[in-house]
Amino acid sequence: MSIIEELQALQVGGVADAQAAPDLATLEAVRVGYLGKKGSLTAILRGLGGLTAEERPAVGKVANEIRAAMEAAIDVRGRELEAKALEARVSAEAVDVTLPGRRRTPGRVHLIDQVVREVTDIFVGLGYRVAEGPEAELDYYNFTALNTPPDHPARSLADTFYIRDLSGEEATVAGESDVLLRTHTSPVQVRVMEAQVPPIYAIMPGRVYRRDIADPSHLPQFNQIEGLVVDEGITFGDLKGTLEHFVREVFGADRRTRIRPHFFPFTEPSAEVDVSCGICAGHGCRFCKSSGWLEILGCGMVDPNVFGHVGIDPAVYSGFAFGMGAERIAALRYDIPDLRVLIEGDMRFLRQF
Ligand code: DAH
Repeated sequence: MSIIEELQALQVGGVADAQAAPDLATLEAVRVGYLGKKGSLTAILRGLGGLTAEERPAVGKVANEIRAAMEAAIDVRGRELEAKALEARVSAEAVDVTLPGRRRTPGRVHLIDQVVREVTDIFVGLGYRVAEGPEAELDYYNFTALNTPPDHPARSLADTFYIRDLSGEEATVAGESDVLLRTHTSPVQVRVMEAQVPPIYAIMPGRVYRRDIADPSHLPQFNQIEGLVVDEGITFGDLKGTLEHFVREVFGADRRTRIRPHFFPFTEPSAEVDVSCGICAGHGCRFCKSSGWLEILGCGMVDPNVFGHVGIDPAVYSGFAFGMGAERIAALRYDIPDLRVLIEGDMRFLRQF
């Protein structure tokens, strides 16, 4: 084979290799293999020295054409591969703006807290101040100062959680621990009256505890909202007007209220307030046990014995108090037949509110 034929064969192979290179790295290897310092074309050109002076220009010309042709082929293939690589990257990084967005479910305030806040706000709107007290409470505040002496049946061990001292020693009042989980928010009344002088207008939301098994109308832990007013000349009429305003705000103007006499140790006289049943509009149904009425809170005029414990002179001041269960208010307002759904955390239920 003449050197010219050798060069032509090399060109055919080199151009074919370049065109077949699947990626830029292979293409570079092809370039080095033919055109690099130790490449095959370079090796042939080195052999030009052995040619005669007549042969050399013609072979040199062919060799230069071949080098140019191979460089061109490598260049073309390089551009193709670069374009392909760019296309691949663009399609890998592409964002499909027509895809639906990821849905974020915003958090929301739990129904019970919504009710607590709403009720609290109604009284704040009347000028009341918010007050709070401890959930682990002294027997004195939960019972004694609320005119519930040690032998009173309302203290029955059955519905109060008592707390034992960590030392194992139980400080006792009439044989029972003197620390307990408060059974109502009424002890906050006593703390407020100890800390402030009248006039007092206080609204006191908080968690309370009772040894009850959860059932449709009982929870062992629930929320109450307590109200207390102490001022000169406060009458039962003030209490009634205040609660009627409250019921209208929470349940709407078309629900009726009634006040029934009742007994609580810390108020005298005491009463319970009912609201007309929202399901049967007062005609009687299963929800209201055919009575047409639903009980929503306890209230009354502060008992002078309670004033005695906090050093307020009942000859100068009088007051009223009331307490309601937030879960019960929520249930009556939204016709929820079982309080337990309020604490189960089932989002299908909670998202409705
Ligand atoms: N503490 C009572 C209860 O848990 C509710 C109550 C009734 C609160 C009368 C009051 C009140 O402030 O005057 O059942």
